[in-house]
Amino acid sequence: MKADVVVGLQLGDEAKGKITHHLLKSGRYTHCIRFNGSHNAGHSIYHNGRKFITHMIPAGVFFDNVDCIVGPGCVINPDKFIKELNELQDNGINAQAAVRVAYNAHVIQDKHLEEDADESKIGTTRMGNGPAYRDKYGRTGMRAESCDKLKPYLTDMYKELFSPGFREPFVLLEGGQGFFLDPDWTDNYPYNTSSHCTVAAALQNGVPYNSIRRVYGAAKVYETYSGFDESFQPNDDVFNKIGDAGKEFGATTGRRRKIRFVDPFDLRKAVQVNGVTHLVMSKLDILREVDVWGIRYGKDRKYNYGKDWKYLSNEEEFRMVIEAAIPPEVEIIWSSSPEGI
Ligand code: IMP
Ligand code: MG
Repeated sequence: MKADVVVGLQLGDEAKGKITHHLLKSGRYTHCIRFNGSHNAGHSIYHNGRKFITHMIPAGVFFDNVDCIVGPGCVINPDKFIKELNELQDNGINAQAAVRVAYNAHVIQDKHLEEDADESKIGTTRMGNGPAYRDKYGRTGMRAESCDKLKPYLTDMYKELFSPGFREPFVLLEGGQGFFLDPDWTDNYPYNTSSHCTVAAALQNGVPYNSIRRVYGAAKVYETYSGFDESFQPNDDVFNKIGDAGKEFGATTGRRRKIRFVDPFDLRKAVQVNGVTHLVMSKLDILREVDVWGIRYGKDRKYNYGKDWKYLSNEEEFRMVIEAAIPPEVEIIWSSSPEGI
């Protein structure tokens, strides 16, 4: 078995969907597995010139001969899942035949939705994600196999990946959210999500560690965040300008995303911990448009300029600072198109 992983290195919305879709065009992959999270994700994907937004369904759905699975690391809302399938089907994508759900994924139940519906502290996506994971780990949850609506879609990860006689799997693992939303790696607990968002979480879905070939880390040239921690965005109009140019509104929540510059050392940390081999830096076109180049520096770091962020003189200097922070063996891909890398 072979596997590649697409993982977020920031706080979600780092163009993982775009990267996954781009990689699938190669025709190499047999499976596309979403490995964590739920409908809290919103992946904007351009397929044959049309824009689609997926929430739970893996990007492999747009390609023939790719088996798509909502993995056991996910929690799933049956009604929303079926609605998303039908909408894709109505738009000419053969989703009903292509998508399966791991029998041991957990169900987002009505009570989870009700509990999350008026959440106003963390700024969740209100999809019932947190309560569903809490009940999974508290051993009071419900598995997909016990949900009538999901019965037609069930599959077993072990059989999918280890049955002799099937084509040798080459799996693309598609992540939701990102490194700094992970419950363990967040710098800002409890403003995190409730599922693990690293390569370790991808492995938990049935792919052995030594099958991993490439890890694509997704990041943007600036950071965005859609929760309620107001301190995220520094008080300067430049960040609103970037948000406007980048059309930074949540694909799931519709909320205006908060913006700040990238800290090269945070980026390095996420690259290192995930074992990233290829780093895709998206939205270069937006900083070019606004013509603002900046980075963030933490207080206790080597370079302490006495403030949280500073401007750099131009794109070249920006790229140099990022490249200097990233381990040299990592290939950096600078991307300025929403449709590819
Ligand atoms: P939850 O995952 O809905 O519980 O939300 C917890 C935090 O994660 C909130 O700050 C959300 O805005 C954020 N979040 C969850 N999913 C995504 C995503 O796909 N993109 C960006 N932020 C997300
Ligand atoms: Mg998103």
